[in-house]
Amino acid sequence: MKKILAFGGSNSSDSINKELANYAASLVEDAQVTLLDLNDFDLPIYSKDLEAKSGIPENAKKFHQYIKETDGIVLSLAENNGAYSSAFKNLFDWMSRHESKLFMGKPMLLMATSTGRKGAAYVLAMAHSRFPYHDAKIVAEFSLPLFHDKFADGKITDMQFDDELKDAVKLFQNQL
Ligand SMILES: Cc1cc2nc3c(=O)[nH]c(=O)nc-3n(C[C@H](O)[C@H](O)[C@H](O)COP(=O)(O)O)c2cc1C
Repeated sequence: MKKILAFGGSNSSDSINKELANYAASLVEDAQVTLLDLNDFDLPIYSKDLEAKSGIPENAKKFHQYIKETDGIVLSLAENNGAYSSAFKNLFDWMSRHESKLFMGKPMLLMATSTGRKGAAYVLAMAHSRFPYHDAKIVAEFSLPLFHDKFADGKITDMQFDDELKDAVKLFQNQL
């Protein structure tokens, strides 16, 4: 059975991105899913000085260990002012100092959702162009706009978007 790591790029306790990541991961067949929450990996704000003084925090290493041990990554990014959430960017920065090629070529289903009409398209584009430098193997992408209109009770209620996600999950599944 393949191991899947799913998480939202957010520290909201009610993160819509974590919900989407959880739903997408549940569609992967014959997989053991580990759902992570960024709140369980508390980290100081990255600083060069702090790194020189204290090294890489254990929680950044711990999160990276999950990536090391998984067969595939299901990630949904929150968009704040057109970019990564502070919590995700901070984790990303710390992990990149631990291991620059941090995604280790693991197949990735890259997603984003927001409450707005654009479905966090800016952060998705940002990750699409940046993650490959960190050895991300993005095999499928998906964006869900207007989350609160299209998602309820743990799943997508808009059939067109649900079919689109299922096609993306198939592409991901075939690469595991
Ligand atoms: C500071 C801030 C900036 C935001 N910027 C954007 C944005 O640029 N684009 C967008 O679609 N939504 C934006 N939103 C709304 C988020 O999509 C919404 O808060 C969403 O729930 C965030 O995902 P999360 O629940 O996984 O944290 C912003 C929200 C906050 C609090």
